[in-house]
Amino acid sequence: MNKGCSFWYKPPLRAAALLFAALLALSGWAAADTRLMVVSDLHYLEPSLYRGSDVFLQALRRGDGKAAQYGEELMNALYQTVLYEHPDALIVTGDLTFNGEKLSHLALAGWFASIEEAGIPVWVIPGNHDINVASPVGYGNGMIYRAEGTSPEAFAAVYADCLETGEAGFSYVAKVSDELWVAMTDVAIYQDTAVTPGLFSSGHAAWLEGVLKNAREEGARVVTATHHSLLVHTELYRDSFVMSGNEKMASLCRTYGVKMNLSGHLHIQHIARDGELSDAALGAFCMWPHRYALVTLQEDGTLVYDAKALDGRFLPEGLSDRSREWFAGITADKAKADISGTRDEIEMMAEYAARFNLAYFSGTYSKDDPSWTEDPAYALWKAQWNTSFIAYMGLVMNEDTGDNLHLAIGE
Ligand SMILES: [Fe+2]
Repeated sequence: MNKGCSFWYKPPLRAAALLFAALLALSGWAAADTRLMVVSDLHYLEPSLYRGSDVFLQALRRGDGKAAQYGEELMNALYQTVLYEHPDALIVTGDLTFNGEKLSHLALAGWFASIEEAGIPVWVIPGNHDINVASPVGYGNGMIYRAEGTSPEAFAAVYADCLETGEAGFSYVAKVSDELWVAMTDVAIYQDTAVTPGLFSSGHAAWLEGVLKNAREEGARVVTATHHSLLVHTELYRDSFVMSGNEKMASLCRTYGVKMNLSGHLHIQHIARDGELSDAALGAFCMWPHRYALVTLQEDGTLVYDAKALDGRFLPEGLSDRSREWFAGITADKAKADISGTRDEIEMMAEYAARFNLAYFSGTYSKDDPSWTEDPAYALWKAQWNTSFIAYMGLVMNEDTGDNLHLAIGE
């Protein structure tokens, strides 16, 4: 496969970043390990589809915390981060675009082409927001209009250098090195209109078993990658989040010694573990703290997963804080709509709700931290027994969670 790319977009600081990448390559840093960088749920919206619109931010404010208004700055920061980390490949586990707009896909393909020009292959699979989405839209003055969407054929053409076509949708093997293969497994459903759930079908099973047999013969370690969850992460998000047929895929993984799946879709940074098999759901890149992960196959055979947050130095000054405030503000608005009390009590509870939600989504919430239940705002929340947020909080606090940022797996 030709991984050379056409060059459509020249991000700022490109020359300096390329020089830095070349110096790293010359230094021979980490040459013995295979290093993979992962991002998911970019939900990129091409700026001409919303710039100057008075209704865009209002619509986004009613959403789930996506900071799509900073998409261009985030992509520029991602570009610089990829060159800084200089992995052997970048993989993107779906939900590339906001809602499948063709313009958004074209712009992303330009960014990926720039990364490939720096010698780092990029591999993508679609999510449920990428192909045949029912209503891709743009935002104008006082109005929302229909934007051009993306068919499977158009998706294949736009990302011709970043995927392979053929079996079980856009399922293919990304051979990151002789030692590490990623089975990019497209479980999104978009044959007619895209739907939220995912499916691992008998076709996927036949394809994946063939890949795993090949890998065994070639002596390569396999990590699988899907958009939807392979394992159940939380009772909060089971239907539409865990792919149908997940047991079939998990069984194949266990039979052939695959111990790590990389997923997205939840938008929450969360690692599910079931025996020797783990499913690392990466927090959405479009939401604070803008997660990415590094997966390293070490020389000793250990596979290490390390979730990181976008470094503020690659973003315009203050943007990381503004993005955090955006997500916190959306959570606080929703909490306030649901509760009663004095103005001070409502402010305390809303602030707590935002802090709690951001900690959970970023994978840093721990029920072992007593400050969550000792907080005076928590006592106020407990009195709001009939609200959806206290129900959500109760489920999260009862989860049996481990480290959601790191994973180390032996051979
Ligand atoms: Fe998503």
